[in-house]
Amino acid sequence: MSDQPTLTSKRQPHLNSRLQGFGTTIFAEMSALAAKTNAINLGQGFPDTDGPMEIIEAAVEALRSGQNQYPPGPGTLELRQAIADHQERFYGMAVDPDHVLVTTGATEALTATMLALCETGDEVLTFDPTYDSYGAAVAMAGARLRTVTLEPSAGGRFAFDYERFEAGISPKTRAVLLNTPHNPTGKVFTDEELGLIADSCRRHDLLLITDEVYEHMVFSGSHRPVAGLEGMADRTVTISSAGKTFSFTGWKIGWAIARPDVLSAIRTAKQFLTFVSGAPFQPAVTTGLRLGDDYYNGLTQQLRDKRDLLGGYLEQSGFNVFTPEGTYFTVVDIDPVAPESDGVAFCLSLPERAGVVAVPAQVFYKDQSEGSSLVRFCFTKRDEILIEAGERLRATFG
Ligand SMILES: Cc1ncc(COP(=O)(O)O)c(C=O)c1O
Repeated sequence: MSDQPTLTSKRQPHLNSRLQGFGTTIFAEMSALAAKTNAINLGQGFPDTDGPMEIIEAAVEALRSGQNQYPPGPGTLELRQAIADHQERFYGMAVDPDHVLVTTGATEALTATMLALCETGDEVLTFDPTYDSYGAAVAMAGARLRTVTLEPSAGGRFAFDYERFEAGISPKTRAVLLNTPHNPTGKVFTDEELGLIADSCRRHDLLLITDEVYEHMVFSGSHRPVAGLEGMADRTVTISSAGKTFSFTGWKIGWAIARPDVLSAIRTAKQFLTFVSGAPFQPAVTTGLRLGDDYYNGLTQQLRDKRDLLGGYLEQSGFNVFTPEGTYFTVVDIDPVAPESDGVAFCLSLPERAGVVAVPAQVFYKDQSEGSSLVRFCFTKRDEILIEAGERLRATFG
């Protein structure tokens, strides 16, 4: 039985043993609570405004011009070329479009990667807290997720102990799974940390799977793909998605980049999951990836401002705020305002108390005793919504 927690991890009679305990995702539950109580939803990670109109127009044009049948299995060449060009433009990495696979969101890229690469009993090492699909994807592959905890440190950052990370590697370890910028903590792994992780992968001959869906949401400095570190291109599966970068989370166009033999394995799994992905959205995402620097810089600046706007209210409300270095999430410690409560109880009562929905970070931990006083707020919302939510929180707790 899986030990991946959610709010409803009740035993389900028809669910196989691999997926027992995964229940309904926390996001669906908290969004349902938001709808029921009419509270402001800062729980689930989606923007409340759509991305650029020219990307929408490109999708409409594709729909109207008959791009509605199965696209090529690996993705259209135009999109794969645009993804390769994006890696060159932002990171100076030469990528062959034949080393790119278009998927149904990063979620499918992650799941197909696990299904393709893991044998039953293999282990995948990642950092806790973890994005909730990791545990399920690894479980579906019959493998086991091991975790090393990112600990809140004195400087308000989350950090990991390298010795513990090394100790988490066993003869069964098939891959390390890294998410940077990291959901839910907002941590951006430093060059030094990336170097240490890459070094372990090289020494232990491990694959590194990186989830970089928040790559354009780094608030100081810029994102650094691990595949760009020396000797890492050949042992890294780089995963990202258009959903976050262009604010079209419902379109579910993602991708994986890997060396040909690894990508071929992933493509085999993807082929029997969805076969192909969203024909009319592929030309639209191609348009998005080719937008000028203004778009990308604007996105980062806008989110930095929103982070600071919500962060100010959270601080004035008395929470201990971990200012995120990336992503569109802010984690707070509720202890100063609700010492008697844990995150789950706090979040269940928050809609009634303050008219706001947030997510308990506890559910992102394999060991539920960790992170019990941490709560995550999503700030990719219109400013007036953030201000209203902030005012409500300050009036309740400040
Ligand atoms: C860390 C992380 N990885 C992957 C995903 C899923 O991406 P997609 O919607 O492209 O499947 C999310 C979405 O919230 C995420 O936060």
